[in-house]
Formats: sequence, structure tokens, C-alpha cells
Amino acid sequence: MLFWNTRKKFAGTWEDRLDGLFSCGVDYAGKTILDVGCNMGIVAYEIAKHRPAYIHGIDILKPHIGVARSIFLGSGVESRFDAMNLGSRKLPSVLRDSYDVVLLLAVYQHVRRGLGQDKADRIFADIINRAQTVVARVPKEKDTRLQSLVEGAGFSLSHRHQSPRGCTVQAYHRH
Ligand SMILES: C[S@@+](CC[C@H](N)C(=O)[O-])C[C@H]1O[C@@H](n2cnc3c(N)ncnc32)[C@H](O)[C@@H]1O
Repeated sequence: MLFWNTRKKFAGTWEDRLDGLFSCGVDYAGKTILDVGCNMGIVAYEIAKHRPAYIHGIDILKPHIGVARSIFLGSGVESRFDAMNLGSRKLPSVLRDSYDVVLLLAVYQHVRRGLGQDKADRIFADIINRAQTVVARVPKEKDTRLQSLVEGAGFSLSHRHQSPRGCTVQAYHRH
């Protein structure tokens, strides 16, 4: 049962999760990074190899955040991992005012499903406003709500990577 639950909460391979992240024109070296819905820190771990200044991961799943913290015990990169629902009123108190790069990887749709569109939009608008660069992984669907939120906040699309597995990685920079 435990095995089944763990598998259910880890869909996709490492390759799926990393596809396009290092070819989207974003340099992570020396940057402050926020990984929204970081799961167990696999993406953060790979980004750490590029020597960012700081990585902050947030996810609702406590055991997964525990894994991420354990991985980063052995890393020279400063990090913080919070087990928190993005809908929590405490969210603004754990976030920095600004991040160089905010990762929104396959997370918006899940939060919207859990919290509803209005609340999800408010939360993501606040997070996006703290970013200079946004890297988003979005499903290949006609639903472009997240892209509209990012563009509405004053960002321009700088790179689009079509993943063979159906989703796209999109990098945006503030203009
Ligand atoms: C499809 S996974 C993507 C994980 C990771 N971003 C990646 O690309 O490998 C979605 C993640 O969002 C997290 N999540 C969903 N709803 C959340 C919420 N309300 N607050 C915080 N995290 C949430 C899930 O626990 C899960 O780890």
C-alpha cells in the first residue's frame, strides 16, 4: 500500500522532469531559485550542480520535502525546503521578496484542481511577481491560463521547448 501511494505521487521519470530545463536559455549559476511544487527535490538537485546561490523548494507532501532536505544535507548550495500547501496563509512569510528564477513545473494545474482557479491565480500571480525569470512546464492543451498569468505580469516568452512526452517547457523573462 505504501509502495502504491509512493508511486502514485511520483509520476514520470527523471528524464521527463528534467527535459528542456537546461536547454531553455536560462543560466542557473549564481541565481536564487524558487521551485514551486518541488516534489522530492530531483529538479533542485540537478540545478544545484549548476551552482546557484540559493534554492527554495515548496511542496505540500511532507515526506517528499523530507527527502529533498536529506539530499541537500550533502550539498554546498544554500537551500530551504518547506512542506506547505501553497494555499496556506503562511506562504508569504516563507517566500523571499524576489527570486532570480521561479520554476513552475507541472504544478499550476494541480494547485488549481485542489484550490480552485481564483485562489490558484492569486497565489501564482503573487509568486510570479517575485520573479525575474519564470520557467514553466505546461501540458499540451488549449488551456493557456498559466501562460496568460505570466504574460499579464509583464513577462515575454524567450524560449519554448516541445517535449517528446507531450508537454512544453517555456522560459519567460521580465521585460
Ligand atoms: C506533477 S508534480 C510536479 C513536480 C515537480 N515540479 C517536477 O516537475 O518534477 C506536482 C507537484 O505539485 C505539488 N502540489 C500540488 N498541489 C500543491 C499545493 N496545493 N501546495 C503545494 N504543492 C502542491 C504536488 O505534491 C507535486 O509534488
